[in-house]
Order: sequence, then structure tokens, then C-alpha cells
Amino acid sequence: MKILGIETSCDETAVAVIEMSGPKQRPRIKILSNAVLSQIPLHQKFGGVVPNLAKREHQRNLVPILLKALGEARLLKSKSKNQKSKIQIKIQKETEKILEREPELLKRFKKNVLSLAAPRIDAIAVTVGPGLEPALWTGVNFVRALSYFWRKPIIPVNHLEGHIYTVMLGDHPAMKRWFRLVPLKLPALILIVSGGHTELVLMKGFGHYSIIGETRDDAAGEAFDKVAKMLGMKYPGGPEVAAAAAKFKVTSPKFKVTFPRPMVNSNDFDFSFSGLKTAVLYFLQDAKKKYPMSILRPVIAKEFQDAVVDVLVAKTIRAAKEFHAKSVILGGGVAANTLLRETLRKRAARDLPRTTLSLPSTELTGDNALMIALAGYFLKKKKAWSKIHANANQRLA
Ligand code: KG4
Ligand code: ZN
Repeated sequence: MKILGIETSCDETAVAVIEMSGPKQRPRIKILSNAVLSQIPLHQKFGGVVPNLAKREHQRNLVPILLKALGEARLLKSKSKNQKSKIQIKIQKETEKILEREPELLKRFKKNVLSLAAPRIDAIAVTVGPGLEPALWTGVNFVRALSYFWRKPIIPVNHLEGHIYTVMLGDHPAMKRWFRLVPLKLPALILIVSGGHTELVLMKGFGHYSIIGETRDDAAGEAFDKVAKMLGMKYPGGPEVAAAAAKFKVTSPKFKVTFPRPMVNSNDFDFSFSGLKTAVLYFLQDAKKKYPMSILRPVIAKEFQDAVVDVLVAKTIRAAKEFHAKSVILGGGVAANTLLRETLRKRAARDLPRTTLSLPSTELTGDNALMIALAGYFLKKKKAWSKIHANANQRLA
């Protein structure tokens, strides 16, 4: 079974192809291609992702990335004949309708896709939400057009499910070679931390989730991004803050500060990071008068990162205990954070000795289409193109 995956929920345009075989309980995978084009340099100028700019870029990049991914997977074939038959005229007209709101994409689709033969794939998995509405729609409309044109079913995928299933690929997933997926031990307690989400999810089976806690305001990644901005660092802020925090050891701090651990002792599994962000802002306003930014940056970055990681880890461990999770899974862009990974590793080893900790490969914590294709394989809710819609606020449960 071959699945084409497409992801455009934020600022990465991504297309991947996977091949699956073997028993359903423990299938094998071959990653045929995994192409990602990041728009980060473009959005950096604006200090964050601009949704309509992201949409425009997806429209420009989807066709070239698709051709690249199909080419790498050896699935790129031109149609044998390119006559203007009645059927082809009908296909072209319908495609124009489907891509009516994606004029830049339609141009490229007509030029480079309508001449392609349908690839030997079984389905197309696409992110339908959550994410930036205009960005999501471009990917969804693209897949609707492909599905209509190639007569392939669509599997709608929740972006967060992609982040969850990434751990099945192990530490350094091989390209173009068969390997077995790491099975998920269920029930699993999942911490999803990204730019738009911070959730604790209990997974009882494939597609069966309950959200047991989530942020009441900012997502963890969003807090990293905002604090980075305050410290004069570029977008995305997570890696910047982590890098500044890593310099802390070599700097002898001239002052001390500790930031609050919001809701760490609350009786639920919710989070809140907006107060922490404000605490950093107030501290910085005052401290800026006394110290240069070069002194402030590593100290504030470290203290802020410590506070976020403390809360995330404390609540994850507590939730895993309370729900008797057989495994703890980490997912989302913030899962790249070394302190978070290491702290979770230590605390899980100490407090949850019989629970498996599954961390995603750091090569795959960012948004990609490989994770979408993989989630699509497990979900298999195939639908016709006319039934697929984007939903910016789609929830896991
Ligand atoms: O999952 P993702 O790529 O996009 C969304 O679906 O939101 O997550 C992006 C978020 C950004 O907020 C970024 O700053 C954060 O992940 N991030 C990190 C690190 N790398 C990326 N946060 C903390 N430490 C990192 N190393
Ligand atoms: Zn993401």
C-alpha cells in the first residue's frame, strides 16, 4: 500500500510518499520520499507567520514539491497521450472549479500536473486541521483536485495525529529501506507541544483520544516565540531561546531571577503560559535599565525555559500515573527542545519505571508530510474529494 501525504497547515509546504506492508499490528514502512520546503526565512521579516503569505507560498510551492516527492519515489510518469479529448476538457474544467480560490496553484497545476499519469498510490492523506485556515485550504483544495484527477481516495488527517504517530518511526528513520514501525503501547499519555497547541491526550486506540488537559491561553511554543521576540531574537523563537539558555553556563550571572510555574499544582491537567510570558516582560522592562541585553538574554532564556519545562514535565508525569499509561509520547515542534526531552527522560525513569517513554526523532519534530501519510495509514477513513473540508479548529476529541 502506497500513501501520498500532503501538509500545509502552517509555514511548511510538505509532500511525502510511504509504502506499507506486513501485519497490521506491526507493519513495515519504506519512506519513498519526504520533501519539506520551509517558509521560515520569508516570515522571519514579519516576526511570525503571516497566514495569507503562507497561503500564497503554498500555492507556489505545492506543485514543485509534489513533482520532487513523486520523482524521488519513482512515481513520476507523463501521460502517454496528451490529446484534447472530451474527457480531458471535462477534467480541466472541473479542476478549474476546484482550484477556483487558488489561482496561483491552478496555473501550476495546469502546466505541470495535468500532463502526469496517475501515480501508483492507494490514497492521498492530507492535513485538514488544526492550523491556519487559508494555508490549510490550499493543501485541501490541491488534494481535492489531485483526487478528482487521479481518481484516488482522500484520507483526512488531524495535524496533531501526525505529530503523535511520528514516534513510531524511531530515532533515525531510514530512507528508501524497509523497517518495522515501533509499536505504540496503549493506553498512551501524549504531550503535544507546538506553536498552536499544548495538550495532554489519552490515547486508548488508533483514532480514540480524550483530551485530559490543555492550555487555557498561549501554547508552549507560542510562549517561546513571544519571549524570543522580547529578547530581540528571530522567529521561530524556540530554538533561539534554547540556544541562548545553553550559553547560561559560560556567563556568570550578575543577578538572579526565578519565574513562576503557572498551574503546576492545580488539580487539573491544564496549562497556562500567558502569565509566565508577562512575568518575563515585566522583569525585562526593569532589568533593561541596569544590564545590557547580552547579559540578560542567557539568564532570562534559561529561567524561562526551566519554568516551561518544569510545568510540562510535572503535569505529564502526574497524568501518566493517574491514567495508568503504558507509554508516554511526546510530539509537536517544541518536542525538539533538548531540556524538555532530557528532563522527561530523567523524570520518567525515576517516577514511571514501567512506562515506556517515546520521543520523536529530532529530524521529524517540525511539520512534515511523512507524519501525515503515516497517520493516514492508521486512520484509513477514506473519503471522496467532494466530502473533504479544512477545519482550522479541528480537535482530536
Ligand atoms: O509543530 P510545529 O512545527 O508547528 C505547529 O504545528 O505549531 O511547532 C512550532 C513551534 C514554534 O513555536 C517553535 O518555536 C517551537 O515549535 N520550537 C521549539 C524548538 N523548536 C521549535 N520550542 C522550544 N525549543 C525548541 N528547540
Ligand atoms: Zn505541528
